[in-house]
Amino acid sequence: MGMQPVNEDLLEQIDAYIDELFVPPDTALEQNLKDADAAGLPAIAISPAQGRLMYLLAKMSGARRILEVGTLGGYSTTCLARALPADGKLVTLELKPEHAVVARKNLDRAGVGGLVEIRVGRAGDLMDKMIGAGEAAFDFVFIDADKPAYVGYLKQILQLSHSGTIIIGDNLIRHADVVAAVAPDELAVGVKAYNKMIATDPRLESILLPILKDKIDGMSISRVK
Ligand code: SAH
Ligand code: DHB
Ligand code: MG
Repeated sequence: MGMQPVNEDLLEQIDAYIDELFVPPDTALEQNLKDADAAGLPAIAISPAQGRLMYLLAKMSGARRILEVGTLGGYSTTCLARALPADGKLVTLELKPEHAVVARKNLDRAGVGGLVEIRVGRAGDLMDKMIGAGEAAFDFVFIDADKPAYVGYLKQILQLSHSGTIIIGDNLIRHADVVAAVAPDELAVGVKAYNKMIATDPRLESILLPILKDKIDGMSISRVK
């Protein structure tokens, strides 16, 4: 199967149409992206519409404990933390201390800082510690860090979950890299392995959704049986 050309301008128009109708102007999130950019962070946060979707999913699921893998400047963290009740908690894992500093400032300014704990280190190591310490299970998890490690993260997350835990994965279509005859890089190999696992592991029921930005990407939704 050959790759089909994609009209990126049309994708942007559709995304903008959805934003205009469903994503209210949001000073805190706009300032988040400005500060992340000023600090030299890469512009790879989830889109505003995806943030809206994740906020709704977290809220609909009634999540009280949320785990995020990959904080960057705290954009997705803010969207998710806003779905928590006042006594809820979000733990977010970030490799780079300089990202965590930007995120902390953004989360405090957005008014959700008190709900969020940022842990700095390699996510795999941090989750090993959490499992070892018998940390309470999470209701909702967002995976958005280094793509080759997604399957390993999922195995750890299953040990930090309960029946009903929702697990979201980001960047799972990668501008159609997952349907290329040969996976073009190890990121595509990583997300294809993740998609295969969530589609086939008997402990999960899942779906993969296309997400439009300037390009086509995807996010998965899994539920632990
Ligand atoms: N969730 C964010 C975007 C995350 S970008 C948002 O949508 O707003 C991916 C982040 O994962 C980066 O900040 C990167 O530093 C971090 N990361 C990469 N490898 C990691 C690892 N091994 N452990 C923890 N974080 C990692
Ligand atoms: C990219 C986008 C992401 O959402 C991410 O987590 C990592 C990389 C990208 O567009 O390169
Ligand atoms: Mg991402």
